[in-house]
Amino acid sequence: MALKHLISSFDLNRDEYISIFEYADKFSMVKSKLNYLQGKVISLAFFEPSTRTAQSFHTAGLKLGADVIGFTSEESTSIAKGENLADTIRMLNNYSDCIIMRHKYDGAALFASEISNVPIINAGDGKHEHPTQAIIDLYTVYKIFNEVDGITFGLLGDLKYARTVNSLLRALTRFRPKKVFLISPSQLKARREILDNLNYPVIETENPYDVIQEIDVLYVTRIQKERFVDEVEYEKVKESYIVDMKLVNMMKKDSIILHPLPRVNEIDRRVDKTPHAKYFFQASLAVPVRMALLYKFLYGG
Ligand code: CP
Repeated sequence: MALKHLISSFDLNRDEYISIFEYADKFSMVKSKLNYLQGKVISLAFFEPSTRTAQSFHTAGLKLGADVIGFTSEESTSIAKGENLADTIRMLNNYSDCIIMRHKYDGAALFASEISNVPIINAGDGKHEHPTQAIIDLYTVYKIFNEVDGITFGLLGDLKYARTVNSLLRALTRFRPKKVFLISPSQLKARREILDNLNYPVIETENPYDVIQEIDVLYVTRIQKERFVDEVEYEKVKESYIVDMKLVNMMKKDSIILHPLPRVNEIDRRVDKTPHAKYFFQASLAVPVRMALLYKFLYGG
């Protein structure tokens, strides 16, 4: 049965996550263009900038035989002339079979799903969620460790504004992580409404050195400059943590470092050459994961 919308990581159950992983495995092995989505049109409605999400969804759609339309900034749409979001979504319903949407406001994807007759896939809404990134994150862990259960995670950096963190924490409720360390300065702690709905052990700390030797997956996030309402507050925390060789040398031998990207300066470039650095591998999995998602939404696998 085809899925309806994907707004939050809570919208998928464990079996659906595993099924997406399995389809991603299959699509990874196919080098030629497929025709499952021939005749379908996918809209990329990106009201906020993106490199990875927009381009990998575009590639995924093309590889499945779909046609892809869309825009990558609000300024290039009639919203710049005063049209509202609801009418914009109604128009995209006329042209396409699925809308991949990124927006600066929390709740924009949910709002769109209440209007849309075609599936809405949330490609990031403000500081709320980015569920397809969380699927890529967990698929990377699944590929490297062969499981998600029993893994100790450490989420480091901007846990208040990073939507990828919210989606990852929520997606992990569908698995059984051993524990999750939340490592952030006090100003950037994970929000209470996110923490209140988790079902596994969570430990908050400000010092990565206290916990680094326990962590299997260190998930680093950028300080989300664009979400701060006060530049002074951003300046105070912008270099809170830099993952450098000193920290990396304390990690467990088989532990890995993930990052949803884009990176600014929170991971020292020298770390890229270590076997722990898996963030570029993680980014490379975006196409098969998003092929799996589009297949499930539009073909019904
Ligand atoms: N990870 C991620 O969402 O990257 P983009 O902002 O480039 O899409």
